[in-house]
Amino acid sequence: MEEEQSKIGIVGSGLIGRSWAMLYASVGHKCWIYDIKPEQVKSALNDIEHQLRCLEQSGLLRGKLNARQQMLCITGTTSLEEAVRGAMLIQECIPENLDLKKKLFNTIDGLIDHSTIIATSTSAFLPSALSEGLRHKKNFIVLHPVNPPYYVPLVEIIPAPWTATTVVDKTREMMDSIGYSMLS
Ligand SMILES: NC(=O)c1ccc[n+]([C@@H]2O[C@H](COP(=O)([O-])OP(=O)(O)OC[C@H]3O[C@@H](n4cnc5c(N)ncnc54)[C@H](O)[C@@H]3O)[C@@H](O)[C@H]2O)c1
Repeated sequence: MEEEQSKIGIVGSGLIGRSWAMLYASVGHKCWIYDIKPEQVKSALNDIEHQLRCLEQSGLLRGKLNARQQMLCITGTTSLEEAVRGAMLIQECIPENLDLKKKLFNTIDGLIDHSTIIATSTSAFLPSALSEGLRHKKNFIVLHPVNPPYYVPLVEIIPAPWTATTVVDKTREMMDSIGYSMLS
């Protein structure tokens, strides 16, 4: 196994949450995947395991770890707190609904410390609209993938006016480490 990497909290285990978990696990990050629906977490873990095995068989698996090692990097949880506390980066992947996302970020804001990056997969909302009023708004950034994320290594990085430059730099490094090109 490669050297242990940082914790990533994935919130929302649908299409995009599953893809991000696979991408981060491909370089050994420890991913905690949470969903408001416990059955979605179970389904996501089964689906990811199946996808990793198929990718390995067809020679398309990303990274240096094998499918089993990558799967061991991904843990499901029904606790938002467990998913996000102590994470280096949180990747939000819940439905495209402004109020829903704002409510979630308010909750997350109370669970993390100043070192956690809060990244949203939003397709349409401005980072300022999603993070205004958060205690940790300096840590907020849009990280918008292109579908299907596992196969199209391109991501949009959009900081809010108040996002710290260190957060932008760390996010870019993170994307670089998973082999992504960036639009920003
Ligand atoms: N699908 C795409 O092509 C695509 C591409 C780029 C970005 N995005 C963006 O990614 C985000 C997620 O899209 P998706 O296609 O994966 O959606 P999806 O519907 O497949 O998955 C959303 C998941 O979030 C869960 N969820 C709902 N409320 C929640 C909450 N409060 N806490 C935790 N989990 C919750 C749902 O149960 C579901 O499993 C959206 O913002 C979307 O705009 C989507």
